[in-house]
Amino acid sequence: MHMRLAPLLILAAAPISLASKGIDGGGHEDGGHAVFQYITAVNRTQPIKLKATPVCGELSSQSFTEANTGVTLNATKTIVAFGDSWTSNGSNGTIPFAPIVFPPNPSAGARLGNNFRARASNGYVWVEDLANTVGAKLIDYSVGGAVVDLAAWNSTNKGVTFTSDNLLRTDFVAETALFLQQGRILADLNPDTTLYTVQFGISDYNQYSIAGGDWTLAANSFLEQISILQANGAKNFLVHWVYFQENVTDTFQDVVQQGLQAAHAENGTNFATVNLANLFTAIQAAPAEWGYTNTTCLASQNFTDFGCDDPDHSIFYIPGHPSSTTHEIINQYTALTLEKC
Ligand SMILES: *[C@@H]1O[C@H](CO)[C@@H](O)[C@H](O)[C@H]1NC(C)=O
Ligand SMILES: *[C@@H]1O[C@H](CO)[C@@H](O)[C@H](O)[C@H]1NC(C)=O
Ligand SMILES: *[C@@H]1O[C@H](CO)[C@@H](O)[C@H](O)[C@H]1NC(C)=O
Ligand SMILES: *[C@@H]1O[C@H](CO)[C@@H](O)[C@H](O)[C@H]1NC(C)=O
Ligand SMILES: *[C@@H]1O[C@H](CO)[C@@H](O)[C@H](O)[C@H]1NC(C)=O
Ligand SMILES: *[C@@H]1O[C@H](CO)[C@@H](O)[C@H](O)[C@H]1NC(C)=O
Ligand SMILES: *[C@@H]1O[C@H](CO)[C@@H](O)[C@H](O)[C@H]1NC(C)=O
Ligand SMILES: *[C@@H]1O[C@H](CO)[C@@H](O)[C@H](O)[C@H]1NC(C)=O
Ligand SMILES: *[C@@H]1O[C@H](CO)[C@@H](O)[C@H](O)[C@H]1NC(C)=O
Repeated sequence: MHMRLAPLLILAAAPISLASKGIDGGGHEDGGHAVFQYITAVNRTQPIKLKATPVCGELSSQSFTEANTGVTLNATKTIVAFGDSWTSNGSNGTIPFAPIVFPPNPSAGARLGNNFRARASNGYVWVEDLANTVGAKLIDYSVGGAVVDLAAWNSTNKGVTFTSDNLLRTDFVAETALFLQQGRILADLNPDTTLYTVQFGISDYNQYSIAGGDWTLAANSFLEQISILQANGAKNFLVHWVYFQENVTDTFQDVVQQGLQAAHAENGTNFATVNLANLFTAIQAAPAEWGYTNTTCLASQNFTDFGCDDPDHSIFYIPGHPSSTTHEIINQYTALTLEKC
């Protein structure tokens, strides 16, 4: 599967002092006129080089693997994204254009400000890079902190919508429901040219770590959403496995992979699976070889003060959230896996 990798071009607003303007700092008042700073294209460098190769397996394996049963990126015209902050551009599927603020602010693209539905990086997230690379339209239902199913975790299953870190919680169930409600009027969903991307597990592991829960319920609910999406025409899926290795997430992902096999066997649905743990293990083994000089740029997601000067050479922008250069690496690794596996 061939694809052309376009040069990295990042859209950014002109470098006015947007950081102090809060969430929608796209314009400013000037003599009574609202002067709008239009989005401009600037060149951003990509000083980080991909040094990992995928570990190809088969979708028929009982353990989660990297595989591709026939997803072709060059045929993709629409990407429908489900996930958490790693995939969210702050839009919740509904906002026509989420600005990226330059200089970078952790809330760039967010509707409601710091620590709440924020874009958790200093530029495009991987699925935006992917959409830009293949020239696809993106509709993004991902929301920071989202889990597969709020019912699965003791910290979220009692109607708790704000958890200990003061983040509103939502899930794959709600993201799917919102997509079914309005997705079909937002984009051309021709099954052959629409790719559904799904990335969950990080926030599930976080909630599980807080107060325990039920991974079987989470796996069943994950597969139920895949089933619902297929019933509504989905034929091509890209699934990212989490970027770390833990026994509970490994087992969860094994169960999900077995469900994807069943969907492939029963419906001929195409699945591409990409293991971010392979990528991040390789990065963490020798970060300097990739061009990294720092691990995490900002000390907290709450503020940019005392931040680092050089986010482009940091693996993470805020704790646990990739920098935009790492998001581009995720994009490149994803494309490579789909091509090689
Ligand atoms: C995508 O690439 C594959 C492999 O190179 C090729 O067979 C196929 O025709 C291409 N599809 C489109 C829509 O260009
Ligand atoms: C980006 O860089 C390339 C190569 O240096 C140059 O040709 C192009 O005009 C630049 N684009 C912008 C928008 O600055
Ligand atoms: C996403 O948007 C829908 C529709 O406007 C809204 O009902 C839902 O509460 C939003 N979710 C979040 C987490 O903001
Ligand atoms: C963020 O996603 C929304 C839809 O989900 C999309 O309309 C918007 O263009 C995206 N923002 C950027 C900067 O690509
Ligand atoms: C969490 O929920 C599970 C069932 O979902 C239950 O078995 C377990 O006791 C709960 N743990 C705590 C600490 O409440
Ligand atoms: C096959 O597709 C149907 C919808 O057409 C869906 O209900 C079913 O769950 C799918 N099978 C599997 C194993 O996902
Ligand atoms: C994870 O599984 C391995 C192999 O089964 C076991 O040795 C290890 O103790 C487990 N780790 C945890 C944290 O349960
Ligand atoms: C960030 O803000 C949240 C809520 O406003 C708070 O709970 C958390 O402690 C803050 N973290 C830091 C490192 O300041
Ligand atoms: C490296 O990261 C630390 C925070 O972990 C930050 O204080 C420092 O400024 C960063 N250095 C550069 C050169 O970005």
